[in-house]
Amino acid sequence: MPGLLSSPLCLTFIWFLSWSLHPSRARIQADEVSDVQYKPLESNVTLACGKSQNRIPVVWHLNNSSVLPWHKVTSDGRLVLLNVDQSAQGDYSCYDGSGLLLHSVSLRLGYPPGELEISCQVPNHTHVRCSWMESVKTFLPAEYSAFIWGNVKDRKLCEVDVANNHCDVDHLAFWQTIHTLEITETNALGSWTTYSRFRLHELLKPNPPESVVAEEQEDSPKKLIVSWNNPTSWPLHDSFPLLFQIRYRPQGSKYWSEIYSEDSKVVIFDALAGHLHQVQVRARDEVNSGSRWSEWTPTVLVKPWEAPSTPDPTEEPDEFPDYIFPFSTKPETSTAKSHNSKHEDEGNLGLVILLVLFSVFILTTVLSLIFVVWMRQRRQEHATIQELTSMVKMKSMPI
Ligand SMILES: *[C@@H]1O[C@H](CO)[C@@H](O)[C@H](O)[C@H]1NC(C)=O
Ligand SMILES: *[C@@H]1O[C@H](CO)[C@@H](O)[C@H](O)[C@H]1NC(C)=O
Ligand SMILES: *[C@@H]1O[C@H](CO)[C@@H](O)[C@H](O)[C@H]1NC(C)=O
Repeated sequence: MPGLLSSPLCLTFIWFLSWSLHPSRARIQADEVSDVQYKPLESNVTLACGKSQNRIPVVWHLNNSSVLPWHKVTSDGRLVLLNVDQSAQGDYSCYDGSGLLLHSVSLRLGYPPGELEISCQVPNHTHVRCSWMESVKTFLPAEYSAFIWGNVKDRKLCEVDVANNHCDVDHLAFWQTIHTLEITETNALGSWTTYSRFRLHELLKPNPPESVVAEEQEDSPKKLIVSWNNPTSWPLHDSFPLLFQIRYRPQGSKYWSEIYSEDSKVVIFDALAGHLHQVQVRARDEVNSGSRWSEWTPTVLVKPWEAPSTPDPTEEPDEFPDYIFPFSTKPETSTAKSHNSKHEDEGNLGLVILLVLFSVFILTTVLSLIFVVWMRQRRQEHATIQELTSMVKMKSMPI
């Protein structure tokens, strides 16, 4: 069936069907019947003064005031409002020359509906909720009708909640490859149908686990026990098992340690003794690895057990550099644990290079100082020898 559904012929058929089902964007004309008129913004709006062609001249008022927006009055007494904006909304009434009320009408302005932005949430295998937002703000009250199907023959109604802009549907054929949601928005100025196609199993995203509890274990300064419940929106029986991911770190550390579990309880063996830890849990459908992880649960804080009076001398509970954590790790329980020691190595190497460079610098400076001093001395000696010889020469000259 999925193969058939995705065949080009079938897709063309679906396209044709949805095209022919697409409601025409017919205007619902409220003009004649009711005394509320809906008109598009930025258009020219004509309001008739009832059927009183013979009683001219007439006078128009808006909200009982004679101040009107940009307008003209035709020879037969109709009011034409030009290029209306929001401020032209209100109650219009027309009077004859003697001040008698002939007709009144209430004007509401907006836009016809446009494309909707749709997103669907799938918290378990039986329930789908789709929400939407107007991409064009219409300013007018609207009605929605929504249908969803995997196979065109099984169109199901998606129950609309107008106040919250979403619809709910239960018990869809979950493993059908692609589902289509069709939402038609209708207001007084027209209607528009939006289609959205998706794979339910890719949207499947459980709610976060609930009632997370993290506890210390007596006499075990590195152990923590974490337990939680399935989200209540996930069925409890075993046909839809959840996979859980638990992450924890000492408060202040940048790096999380992670554990995966199919049970709703884990024991952490490598907590940092004496430190407060942050713990979070999330869940995913275990069978369907293409589905989404839930959000993380709110952070739970827990401190491993500490001996009451004699603190462990090897630990320094007040301060720890980030790169020391985590120490020992249980190999099968964790991922992402190696970057810390690498950091440490890099830090040490940098320090050694810096020290070597510094000593070379000092050595060079000292050597050049010694060289300069020695050169000076040699020059001075040379000068005194020259002076002496010239004096000797002068003395030996005849006067
Ligand atoms: C509205 O009427 C004015 C004046 O008659 C005209 O210039 C304008 O093009 C009309 N606008 C629309 C949207 O019909
Ligand atoms: C007329 O009254 C309506 C409410 O009835 C209001 O929304 C509108 O802004 C008013 N218009 C003017 C021009 O005062
Ligand atoms: C699926 O989720 C919906 C919405 O949270 C909930 O009302 C429904 O009971 C859940 N179904 C099952 C079988 O738990």
